[in-house]
Amino acid sequence: MEQLEDFFTLRTVTWAGRSVRMIDQTVLPRRLAYRSYTKPAEVAEAIKTMVVRGAPAIGVAAAMGVALSALESRATGKEGIMADIEKAAALLRSTRPTAVNLFWGVDRVVRTARRAPTTREAREAVVSEVKAMEEEDVAANRRLGKIGAELIDDGDTVMTQCNAGALATVGYGTALGVIRAAREAGKFVKVLVPETRPALQGARLTAFELLRDGFDCRLISDTAVGYALSRGVVDKVVVGADRITRDGWVFNKIGTYQIAVLARRHRVPFYPAAPRSTFDLERTHGQVTIEERNASEVVSIRGRRIAPRGIPVGNPAFDATPPELVTAIVSDAGLIRSPVAKNVRRVIS
Ligand code: MRU
Repeated sequence: MEQLEDFFTLRTVTWAGRSVRMIDQTVLPRRLAYRSYTKPAEVAEAIKTMVVRGAPAIGVAAAMGVALSALESRATGKEGIMADIEKAAALLRSTRPTAVNLFWGVDRVVRTARRAPTTREAREAVVSEVKAMEEEDVAANRRLGKIGAELIDDGDTVMTQCNAGALATVGYGTALGVIRAAREAGKFVKVLVPETRPALQGARLTAFELLRDGFDCRLISDTAVGYALSRGVVDKVVVGADRITRDGWVFNKIGTYQIAVLARRHRVPFYPAAPRSTFDLERTHGQVTIEERNASEVVSIRGRRIAPRGIPVGNPAFDATPPELVTAIVSDAGLIRSPVAKNVRRVIS
C-alpha cells in the first residue's frame, strides 16, 4: 500500500492508465493511503468493503471496474468481449443495492461498449467514457455547489450527515460541495457533524475532510442531533443522497430521516444535494432496496466488541425521507423547489 502526503492534488477515485486508483477510506483518518486495482473483481470487493463509498464515488468506481473488464478480456470478437463486460457488470451491480449511481455508472459503460463496432474501438471507447465520467462528476458537484450556496447565509451553522464530501465523490462533494461553494463565495459557514454510527463516516471522514480544509466544524454524537436542533443552533441541514426517486423520496445514510423529522419540528430548512446521476426517474420509493449490512458494524466499534454475544441485530444502511419533509433539493440541473414530488421530473430530464 502506497502512502501519500498530499490530499488535495489527488482524487478519491481516478483512472490511472490501465488501473483504478482510490483513497482507502477504511483506514482514514489514521492513514491517508491509496490502492490501485487492475481487475473488476478487485473493484467490486473495494466497493463492498467500503474502501470506496459514497454514491457518486461508487458510481464512477464501478464504471471503471467495467472498463477494466474490457481491457482484461482476451476476446477477439465483439460478442466475446461483450460477454466478459456483461459478466463484470453483473458482479459490480451486485455489490451494493441502494445508491442508483452504481447502476447508472455500470450501465453507461456497458452501453458505450455495445455501440462500438470492434473490440479495439470498444476498449478505447470505455476508457474515454470513464475518463469523461470522472471529470463530469467534479464539474456537476461544482455546479450544484454554486446553486446550493445561494441558500446559505453568511454566519450559518449547517448540520450534515454521513460524508457527502470530496471523499464520497471524485472530488469537491455534494452537501460539502454546497458548503465549500458558500465559503468560496465569501460566506463564513460553521459545520455540525453527527458521527453517523455504525460506520462512522461523519466522525472519520467528514471530520477529516473539513479539518483538512480549515472549516470551523464540530463533531456531535448521533444522539445529540435532536438536542442541537431544538436549541436553535442549526440554521440549515444539508445532506447528500444515494437515490432520489421519481416521487421525490430521498434515500440517504441511515439517520437522515430522523434529522429531517427533527428539522421540520424545529423549522430548520432541510436540503438534500445530489447530481443528476443520483436521480432514479424510473422508480418510486417502494421499489428501492435498502442495504442491510453486516451485524459486526453494530456490535463492534472499529473491530472492538461492545455488545454481548448472541444479541440479534438489525443494520439497515440507508433510510428514506418523504418529499414533504424536504424544503428543496439542490441539483446540478437547478434547484428543485417544493412540492419536490412534482418538480423532480420537471427539473431532471
Ligand atoms: O454507506 P455509504 O458511506 O456509501 O453512504 C454514503 C451516503 O449515504 C452519502 O450521504 C451519500 O452517498 C451521498 S454522497 C455525495
